[in-house]
Amino acid sequence: MKLLVTGGAGFIGSNFVRYVLNTHAEDEVVVLDKLTYAGRRENLAEVAEDPRFAFIHGAIEDREAVDAAIEGCDAIVNFAAESHVDRSIEDPEAFITTDVIGTHVLLEAARAAKIGRYVQISTDEVYGSIDEGSFTESSPIDPSSPYSASKAGGDMLVQAYFRTYGLPALITRASNNYGPFHYPEKLIPLCVLNAFAGDKLPVYGDGMQVRNWLYVEDHCSGIDTVLRKGAEGEVYNIGGPDECPNIEVVKRVLELTGRDESLIEYVTDRPGHDRRYSLASDKTMALGWQAQTGFAEGLERTVQWYRDNEDWWQPIRSGEYLEYYRQQYGRELA
Ligand code: NAD
Ligand code: TYD
Repeated sequence: MKLLVTGGAGFIGSNFVRYVLNTHAEDEVVVLDKLTYAGRRENLAEVAEDPRFAFIHGAIEDREAVDAAIEGCDAIVNFAAESHVDRSIEDPEAFITTDVIGTHVLLEAARAAKIGRYVQISTDEVYGSIDEGSFTESSPIDPSSPYSASKAGGDMLVQAYFRTYGLPALITRASNNYGPFHYPEKLIPLCVLNAFAGDKLPVYGDGMQVRNWLYVEDHCSGIDTVLRKGAEGEVYNIGGPDECPNIEVVKRVLELTGRDESLIEYVTDRPGHDRRYSLASDKTMALGWQAQTGFAEGLERTVQWYRDNEDWWQPIRSGEYLEYYRQQYGRELA
């Protein structure tokens, strides 16, 4: 199979590209990526010389770039997105452009090319917040942030293209990912790097918001399972094995980095902050998938990866990131 992986230079996309090339000897991968602040060629360094891999610099909302990239591909897996809730609150526009309009351009191009398979990578955040129990694929869509609303818009277009035009499309909705190559604007890598530096770890509100943590490799195997075995027109949840309140996550990071709790800093809560996410993944598990990595083990591996890969994260903690940090947290990084 020849796959077009859009957004393949980001956190999950780059892990997925490695996963596919390592798991399926016959497969080829073309990455189309706009290389925003979150996308980096360095994330794909391990596969850069693989003859089965090609990289194209371009945006999913650019029809010409998409048409060129799609040439000869059997399937599309769309990771391309603006992905950070806090940035969507600050300025939603790029989220609409990429997550809604970009998805639409990609769907049009896929339809014209008569693509064999289209997988939209979505999120549990489209379901909104749940106090008890877990979301299933038939739970109503009820997004809270401009990020989750724009992802929900993309999902609705994918569903419409399946129903209206018979596009062989599927949607996956995953819970919070963590692991190697995670951009340090998100809770876990931000806290790991701040803890390394002896800087404060910012906790929004009371820190009792719960997330359902999924190790990125488990997400990749889930997407791969849905890509190859899922039924067209269906949605598949891919949830992590463990749920944990943010304050517990932060305390575990402090423990793994040998720091004490005096580094915890409670800061102003995020507006519209979803209290809890929880996913039931029975439908994906019925295809033969299961998460392999518990949160304790995955977090330990993640902290170790950041310890071993300062060359990867050091350049990020400059320029745009420092500016973002100053705006978001109202202070400089230590
Ligand atoms: P990321 O921000 O790390 O990476 C996004 C990638 O998309 C980057 O390489 C960026 O350059 C690229 N991109 C952005 N706009 C583009 C455009 N217009 N055209 C082409 N490329 C563009 O995000 P991530 O955390 O890897 O998330 C990937 C996907 O998974 C997203 O669709 C996100 O909604 C979804 N998701 C993420 C999580 C999570 O916990 N991170 C959980 C569930 C679902
Ligand atoms: P995040 O990693 O941004 O993912 P998402 O918003 O998609 O769930 O945040 C995870 C949780 O951690 C969320 O409840 C917000 C919280 N959080 C903090 O408490 N402090 C922070 O500095 C960040 C970035 C997030």
